[in-house]
Amino acid sequence: MKHFIDLKDITAAEMMDLLDLADQLKADLKAGRRYDLLRGKTLGMIFAKSSTRTRISFEVGMAQLGGQALYLNAQDIQLGRGESVADTARVLSRFLDAIMIRTYAHQDVLDLAAYGTIPIINGLTDLMHPCQALADLMTIREHKGTLKGLKLAYLGDGNNVANALLQACARVGMDVAVAAPEGYTCDPACIADAREQAALQGSQVILTEDPAEAASQADVLYTDTWVSMGQEGEKAERVARFSAYQVNEAMMAMARPGAIFLHCLPAYRGLEVTSAVIDGPASVIFDEAENRLHAQKAILIRLLNPQ
Ligand code: CP
Ligand code: NVA
Repeated sequence: MKHFIDLKDITAAEMMDLLDLADQLKADLKAGRRYDLLRGKTLGMIFAKSSTRTRISFEVGMAQLGGQALYLNAQDIQLGRGESVADTARVLSRFLDAIMIRTYAHQDVLDLAAYGTIPIINGLTDLMHPCQALADLMTIREHKGTLKGLKLAYLGDGNNVANALLQACARVGMDVAVAAPEGYTCDPACIADAREQAALQGSQVILTEDPAEAASQADVLYTDTWVSMGQEGEKAERVARFSAYQVNEAMMAMARPGAIFLHCLPAYRGLEVTSAVIDGPASVIFDEAENRLHAQKAILIRLLNPQ
């Protein structure tokens, strides 16, 4: 694994290895076992969009592993004044050991990897959010004991989070169903990748406009905001379009008994999910948020301290 940009470049075996390492790191942290695997290493974190979880979990993760992280607001570095991604990549490669970037255009992340000489981690683009999907699988396995054979239903906008989940679930042999209104389904290349992986694993990929079809028999219900960063101007139209996809108690009742609820956060109660669900017994959202830390520490170790 050279970069962590797009799950299509990660094999099922690499994914399982990351999940096992993340579990180990979590257990070690809780038991007070610390190690300095990344002593002397510096992660640059470029943010062109807001973040709570990604920023803090990467920064804390680097510190726990004995390294350090630099927060680089894209507007504060020369990138924000028009210095090219290619030049930025070549310069930062001389100072840093890895870069995590959260931005709009996925191509910018690919360009960083193409022009730089250090590992690049995708901390969310308009296209995908692979770190989130890894932490999601970790959370599902923690609560359900397994991944293969489970069904995850994602309801709402076929956005960056949904794209990465499709790819992640398909790689580990989970059935994955995305219910979204016409025109708001997942990215075609992510769908194709998920279908290819699911065929290898013997699992299913379902794309539908019918939320009940997706939720039926699901072990995991998942939703995300209807208005992603950069789409604020479309809010009224989106809220109207997605209302039938809200995860509420009636939607939870369509899933299997014992189904869990996940949301990458930040959440908007009363829109994509009701308070009764997100604050209810099926919700594991804060374990999910915590697991960003452990999953990303696993990614950092595999990229920066390969065996
Ligand atoms: N889920 C997630 O990536 O959260 P932040 O936007 O707070 O980083
Ligand atoms: N889909 C959301 C995820 C936030 C973590 C967004 O892109 O804003």
